Amino acid sequence: MEKQYEGKAKILYSTENPEVLLTHFKDDATAFNAQKRGTIAEKGKINCQITVALFQWLESKGISTHLIEQSADDQILVKRVKIIPVEVVVRNLAAGSLCRQTGLEEGYKLPFPLVEFYFKNDELGDPLLTRDRLLILAVASEEQLEQLQSLALSINQHLQEFFASCQITLVDFKLEFGIDSQGQILLADEISPDTCRLWDQTEKDPQARVMDKDRFRRDLGQVETAYQQVQKRVLDKLASDTYFFPDNL
Ligand code: TMP
Repeated sequence: MEKQYEGKAKILYSTENPEVLLTHFKDDATAFNAQKRGTIAEKGKINCQITVALFQWLESKGISTHLIEQSADDQILVKRVKIIPVEVVVRNLAAGSLCRQTGLEEGYKLPFPLVEFYFKNDELGDPLLTRDRLLILAVASEEQLEQLQSLALSINQHLQEFFASCQITLVDFKLEFGIDSQGQILLADEISPDTCRLWDQTEKDPQARVMDKDRFRRDLGQVETAYQQVQKRVLDKLASDTYFFPDNL
């Protein structure tokens, strides 16, 4: 297999089928545009499992993703897509850069889910873009931006509901999309504690409730335990869901 691309958390390989790529999830963790580096034990496997579970859940709700199947504990086979160089962030509660840039208090409940577009460009530090900047850069058409916005909101609704059933608050998350050979927009990349802020509803303490990569970013400790806990709650929830797995009936 030939390496096609190596990112900070994943490696993409070509396969015998030109339409199919293999994604390997790494244990490497980075933050602040890779200024901070480390590893999180078993993260590759955990994030792979969580991504597969959530992508399958979203597929069952009518959201098209690039996922074909899981091929190993830390590997998935995906449809080859052209990644749109935009990181679509959806926020339900204020946290992270939104607090830093606006002064909103962490945990402030936003009056409506906020969808933001960031330019996927490490050299520029993934800046927040306006719609007009996106159009001028020609990274997506007006129609595609509308589609991304409505897909992101719909994914947010499904994920918020799903995580709430695991007693987890979905604070915010980042999505990436790609265009397949038929021109269809597919959800791509991953959805995991690396790309979401997840707060444990059974914990009141603002540090103890953090179940995501903020534990690594902010040196809160217990990073592996938090990732394992998210994995356990997500997989347990799906295993008990007779609609999702009718064989359980
Ligand atoms: P932010 O508050 O730092 O802008 O992050 C918003 C969300 O996007 C948060 O859930 C973490 C996620 N995210 C990524 O997945 N990759 C990134 O490079 C960044 C900056 C954020």
